[in-house]
Amino acid sequence: MLRYAGAVAASKAFSATAVGRRVYHHLGRQALERLRVAEGLPQRYVDRADRLLAQVARHDVLAPGDRVLEIGTGWVHWEATVLALHHDVRVTMLDVRDNRLPRAYRAYLAGYRAHLESVPASLAPAGRDRALDRLGAALDAPDLDGVYDLLGLEHVVEPTGSLAGLDAGRFALVVSADVLEHLPTASLAAHVREELERVRPGGYAIHQIDLVDHYHYFDPSTSPKTYYRYGDGTWRRWFQSEVQYFNRVQRPQWQALFRDAGWSVVEDGVACGEIGEVPIAAPFAALSPADRDCLQILGVHRRPA
Ligand SMILES: C[S@@+](CC[C@H](N)C(=O)[O-])C[C@H]1O[C@@H](n2cnc3c(N)ncnc32)[C@H](O)[C@@H]1O
Repeated sequence: MLRYAGAVAASKAFSATAVGRRVYHHLGRQALERLRVAEGLPQRYVDRADRLLAQVARHDVLAPGDRVLEIGTGWVHWEATVLALHHDVRVTMLDVRDNRLPRAYRAYLAGYRAHLESVPASLAPAGRDRALDRLGAALDAPDLDGVYDLLGLEHVVEPTGSLAGLDAGRFALVVSADVLEHLPTASLAAHVREELERVRPGGYAIHQIDLVDHYHYFDPSTSPKTYYRYGDGTWRRWFQSEVQYFNRVQRPQWQALFRDAGWSVVEDGVACGEIGEVPIAAPFAALSPADRDCLQILGVHRRPA
């Protein structure tokens, strides 16, 4: 719990001033790039790629020439890149800040090439040969812009997070991983509606949403749902920070948000796990045992045709 408390205190301190927030993002990006280059492509990103490609294939989500919107593309454009490697699509990659880590991106491209080369043909995802050709060319590109040109990617920074500047009704798919939990709770209904307005009728949304207490990542000895201990006032006052913001929204609320915005459910996937003995504060008291143990949402939704 000591490292948990340390992470909370540091996040609060960095969040207190504009200079602190800038320093946090600057130092954080440098440390993250070193770490990610050193460790190479993690298995969890390979699993993410496999799952996304399987979801897209299962529901016949993409056709040649389609447009895709990735929300919160972050450091390595992972969902955008995987889709552009395997499908003939153009992807708009949106973020609220420029979090790109070019050396880590390159390390992930190289790791993904090694992974695809090692998979037996019978188990490889559709479009493996095309993906390998494109990976080779991307790794030869002189810089990020060269990779974007090759793969049909476009990076957009919109500090407000608004989707209003993007074409309405034109995207076949909106996709994100580990992003929606970072949007302010009060903005979620409008955001999920804005996503619906961006996709064409019959278009899809595929989201991976992380429900784990993000301070737990600094202290794995704590429960992944440590935040259940705290009511909203206590959480806001002592734990919530700007640089490490996550919204604590749980599965039933996410289901209601998508339903109320007009999305229909295609896959209501979750990953659950052992959360240990944690006292449950009032905001979480009504959760069913299954929802209480939910650590990740893996949702596929569709805009009615
Ligand atoms: C945990 S990172 C995940 C990055 C990337 N999807 C990945 O998994 O490698 C969350 C990302 O979401 C971005 N983000 C936060 N709020 C956002 C918003 N309202 N719209 C778009 N991106 C947002 C952050 O800037 C950050 O790059």
